[in-house]
Amino acid sequence: MTVQAKLLELERRNALAEEGGGEARRERQHREGKLSARERIELLLDQGSFEEMDRLVTHRCTDFGMDAQKIPGDGFITGYGRIHGRVVFVSAQDFTVFGGSLSETNAAKIIKVMEMAMRVGAPIIGLNDSGGARIQEGVVSLAGYAEIFLRNTQASGVIPQISAIMGPCAGGAVYSPAITDFILMVDQTAYMFVTGPDVIKTVTHEEVTKDALGGATTHNEVSGVAHMMARDDAECLAMIRELLTFLPQNNLEDPPRKPTDDPMDRADPELDTLIPDQPTQAYDAKLAIQHIVDDGYFFEIHERYARNVVVGFARMNGRPVGIVANQPSVLAGVLDINASTKAARFVRFCDAFNIPLITLEDVPGFLPGTQQEHGGIIRHGAKLLYAYAEATVPKLTVIMRKAYGGAYCVMSSKHLRTDLNLAWPTAEIAVMGAEAAVNVVYRREMEESVRQAQAVWPSGRAFTDKDKAKILADTRQEKAHEFRDRFANPYIAAERGYVDSVIRPSETRLRLIRALEMLDTKREKNPPKKHGNIPL
Ligand code: HXC
Repeated sequence: MTVQAKLLELERRNALAEEGGGEARRERQHREGKLSARERIELLLDQGSFEEMDRLVTHRCTDFGMDAQKIPGDGFITGYGRIHGRVVFVSAQDFTVFGGSLSETNAAKIIKVMEMAMRVGAPIIGLNDSGGARIQEGVVSLAGYAEIFLRNTQASGVIPQISAIMGPCAGGAVYSPAITDFILMVDQTAYMFVTGPDVIKTVTHEEVTKDALGGATTHNEVSGVAHMMARDDAECLAMIRELLTFLPQNNLEDPPRKPTDDPMDRADPELDTLIPDQPTQAYDAKLAIQHIVDDGYFFEIHERYARNVVVGFARMNGRPVGIVANQPSVLAGVLDINASTKAARFVRFCDAFNIPLITLEDVPGFLPGTQQEHGGIIRHGAKLLYAYAEATVPKLTVIMRKAYGGAYCVMSSKHLRTDLNLAWPTAEIAVMGAEAAVNVVYRREMEESVRQAQAVWPSGRAFTDKDKAKILADTRQEKAHEFRDRFANPYIAAERGYVDSVIRPSETRLRLIRALEMLDTKREKNPPKKHGNIPL
């Protein structure tokens, strides 16, 4: 063979790889509102930075006439490139080739880039659009999945792992994304489920559409499996690019800084009037976040799920930080099962990747009720407690208003090794809310007030249940006032040093930024162990 012929043979093979499953299947992909795997990679990465690996790999299956259908690349495109100049590894399932299904050989391709990503310490991004295990290959395909799950687990906490679901993701295949740090789903085209509608109908006679069962809205709002939702492929890929700007390349690096023109000492008088006079009145915690962080910019994670707690990334004088804030405008900011697990996972991510944590606290406690207790609020609430206690990154807390009961302890209290605990003058730190407290502490006094009223009651008038209720309500209110005056403030905690400073809300930004600078060299370790046993 001449050199020219050899060059032509390379071109021929490359063209076959580029062609994938062919024009007709690509057109179908576009008709369904989806980009092709190559188009997705192009949008995801910095222009022209993609280096493909294993593009000539083919499957080895000989059953079902498969040996006559070999397409170089075998339905997966893998390799590396750059996002904002930083190296990332990518694997993208090509639905036009056997439905993007997983074979023995393309599993090996993914494993190769995952291991390479771990070796060089760079994020890995999976673009999922697949019919799952390649049916013709049987158990070797299942083995491929299990091998990927193992690598996902080994990479967890070492490099950021991001999954975009841009088409089907069903069966056991969902467990690779589930182990990764962030799942983004595209509305209308993406779905994830362990068993699909047909199986569900056979087994339980329940009828449900794919979208209702496992579409982007379901997983963003109901199950909490997904962290973000995009309108289309392009938006999803842009979100991944932005998410990475807050993250370090790996667990040994700090997140990248981004210079800002927002002055670090910008006093924000609007914060001084954010908290309403009435303790029961709601306000939007996201406003507090916007007034404190650089340029008012907050990149929210899990925006649609468990909205009673808000989590996401922002920057403080250029430094990425993770923010956890109770949200008084949803369920009064109470901590329930979903909020606890949402916040716990976020705290652990930030801790694993050296992202300082800022906690903005206004929490009336854990949600009472049989549903929560029977659902295991003890176990799930403990996750958040454990996550904060275990975290060794710089931790800063601002108690804006309520810090009641167990939730006071949990929300990055001083006692969990938090580095700086600030309180606004509006802070209320108590075992429980005043009304609930007087019912327990002043029960005898309240009964006594009824007896006394009854003793001097005018003889001509009957002492009715209504009279009794009024006297009880008046006494309760008076005692609640007393209780609030005594405990609903930050000063008892400040006198003990549980709160380091009581500050004007308008100074919050400056105080937090100074603390973050001071904590730049923080070194803290947990006792040596194989791993802890977080309550799952
Ligand atoms: C081989 C597959 C395939 C698969 C799809 N194709 N899934 N080939 N193995 N798993 C092929 C189809 O034959 C078809 O080929 C092309 O991909 C497109 O598929 P369509 O069915 O035409 O697409 P669509 O109508 O959009 O439906 C997509 C789908 C459906 C819902 C994903 O294809 C489907 O139900 N596939 C099977 C899904 C499944 O049961 N997989 C196993 C899950 S269990 P042509 O040549 O016509 O283009 C699993 C276990 C993992 O994954 C375990 C891990 C522990």
